[in-house]
Amino acid sequence: MDIQGLQSKLEELADEAVGKLAGVEQKEEAIQVKNRYLGRSGSVQELMTVLRELPNEDKPVAGQAINQAKQAIQGAFDARLKELAQRELERKMREETLDVTLPGRKPEVSLGHPLRQVENELIAIFEEMGFAVAEGPEIETDYFNFEALNFPPDHPARDMQDTFMLTDGRLLRTHTSPVQVRTMQAYELPIQIISPGRVYRCDSDLTHSPVFHQIEGLLIDEEVSMADLKGTLTEFAQRCFGEGTQIRFRPSYFPFTEPSAEVDVECIFCHGDGCRVCSDTGWLEILGSGMVDPNVFEASGIDPERYSGFAFGLGVERIAMLTRGIGDIRRFFENDQRFLEQF
Ligand code: DAH
Repeated sequence: MDIQGLQSKLEELADEAVGKLAGVEQKEEAIQVKNRYLGRSGSVQELMTVLRELPNEDKPVAGQAINQAKQAIQGAFDARLKELAQRELERKMREETLDVTLPGRKPEVSLGHPLRQVENELIAIFEEMGFAVAEGPEIETDYFNFEALNFPPDHPARDMQDTFMLTDGRLLRTHTSPVQVRTMQAYELPIQIISPGRVYRCDSDLTHSPVFHQIEGLLIDEEVSMADLKGTLTEFAQRCFGEGTQIRFRPSYFPFTEPSAEVDVECIFCHGDGCRVCSDTGWLEILGSGMVDPNVFEASGIDPERYSGFAFGLGVERIAMLTRGIGDIRRFFENDQRFLEQF
């Protein structure tokens, strides 16, 4: 082949390649076509052997012609890839447009855990009645949890079976009553507080959980009487369970109150007729209460001759189970979405 033959062959190959590249639809296809011409054993590369056999004076011209052909093919290849990429981008933009008129997904709105709902409702009731919220630690000393509350040293409630003891001699509080003592020692009189919080007891069945919630109440002033206790808790029952709800006081015993009473509310299911929930008594026990024992006052430096007060303690789970119709206390602590969603 002479120089003219080579030149026209190159032109022919370049035209052919450029034409093919213009028609490819895929990047892979374009690469294949390019390699067929420019690859190691591609048809343009093969013409290098022809160049080598040409007379020396023709070689520069031949080399230039080969380079031109290569550049033409490479240019067509690059241009086609660009076009294909642009087309792909346009296709994506077309297909992946956001239809802003589609209805959105409803976000899951949490109304809070049912226990927290009930706790908040109870706190709101007492706040409206003039009680302030006080708090105390869940890890307590024997002094605040028992001793200052007039528990005799051999009282069964101090037994290891009920109380979670910590290795350093402290304990997990078994009730919110220690906040009574902390408040009496920290604040000026008169005092009118409630104290909601977690408490712990080594106990577990359908109605008992090793961790549960109480709300403690304490009111101290001059001339506070049992009638004030009764009036306050009657008002609370109206606000919590509805206008006209009856309550009754049963004599009881707590070391830190004297006299002590357990308070029952008229069964919210049968309204006193007797049913399964109230074991046919017509009454549901909801809290413990009493007049602050003089020993408790003395332990905190309050003069029992001048001051008197009442206290009460209620279980939040108990009230939540009654008002929400929940039969197993463990439901509150399992965090099962299907249970929680119902509230
Ligand atoms: N602390 C008692 C308990 O956990 C409940 C209680 C009873 C609290 C009588 C009081 C009270 O303040 O006066 O069982």
